[in-house]
Amino acid sequence: METKLITINNINTPAAQAALYEAAELICDGKLVAFPTETVYGLGANALDSPACAAIFAAKGRPADNPLIVHIADMDMLNELVVPSPLAIKLINAFWPGPLTLVLPKKPTIPDIVSAGLPTLAVRWPSLPLATALIKAAHCPIAAPSANLSGRSSPTTAWHVYTDFAGKIPLILNGGPTEIGLESTVVDACGKIPQILRPGRVEEKELAKASDQPISYTNLSSAKRPTAPGMKYRHYAPKGEMLVAHGLSEIMHLRLQLKEKYHQEPLLMVWAETAAQLPGEAEVLIMGKEGDLTSYARNLFAALRKGDEQHFSSLIAEAVPEYGFGIAIMNRLNKAVSQKVLLKKEL
Ligand code: TXA
Ligand code: MG
Repeated sequence: METKLITINNINTPAAQAALYEAAELICDGKLVAFPTETVYGLGANALDSPACAAIFAAKGRPADNPLIVHIADMDMLNELVVPSPLAIKLINAFWPGPLTLVLPKKPTIPDIVSAGLPTLAVRWPSLPLATALIKAAHCPIAAPSANLSGRSSPTTAWHVYTDFAGKIPLILNGGPTEIGLESTVVDACGKIPQILRPGRVEEKELAKASDQPISYTNLSSAKRPTAPGMKYRHYAPKGEMLVAHGLSEIMHLRLQLKEKYHQEPLLMVWAETAAQLPGEAEVLIMGKEGDLTSYARNLFAALRKGDEQHFSSLIAEAVPEYGFGIAIMNRLNKAVSQKVLLKKEL
């Protein structure tokens, strides 16, 4: 199958409208279309079409027990799919459209394959105009996990999607690099207190403020924290050995060790200030100016993919402070850390 890549810079041009029409027709026809959102690119299908949703699982190699997020573009669509709780209404008013996914009791309209048999459904109203224009043009809710092969980093450019799905899907809409770079915050909003299942751009303290409720997340030990089914799977891991280091001296120490082990400089994902202090000819990817978490998040998945493309035997990522948006960044970094290293630490 030929995979078409169409770039859309402005959704209001006639060319963009024609591309959106083409994409919507494919979706209505039960085909898969990759499209950008403000977080990462999604691999979309008509959420009401079971075989089309089954094709998402097949294309990604996604385990059947990992449910999909359904993307909507108005409140009528939401009400057809789920029963919004009073808590959900508060969060919707505060954060939609935007990078927040709500898990709510599902109605029978949605096929079981989408929710992996769970009685709940994850729904999100994305803020990127290109994403909402596609949903509106297709006149249906769009189920879309991140558009990467299972286990790989989520795609933040159309090129990342192309790398994983060329020849397997008919169309990728290219809206340029995504603004946030990490997947949405997933919140269980079925009860009275929001439960964070996956950290993201919408932070704990913002959720607490909008809902007038304490968040149970920080009160629980990490072993007891509820997580989305997908969070148990290993993710993002580059092919080379991946480590996370705190500060310059730890980075220099690990760099030396990895260089001896692999006879190759590791790829260093570090703040600009750290890069400036590194001795010798280091292989560096600058994640931003120190403390700029927005920039770090935006660059993170592309950096992990670069490690693979350039065949690095090892990578070291500089840790960020673990509060606010830093929780989401550290969550993704820790999932990318090599399994054998984790095992060593646990012993
Ligand atoms: O930003 C995002 O959320 C992107 C864009 C494309 O919207 N999508 C995304 O989808 O990251 P995916 O499938 O890669 O991640 C969805 C996460 C998984 O961890 C899944 O287990 C969880 O949401 N999830 C889906 N339905 C759920 C449910 N009913 N209950 C709990 N967790 C659920
Ligand atoms: Mg994903």
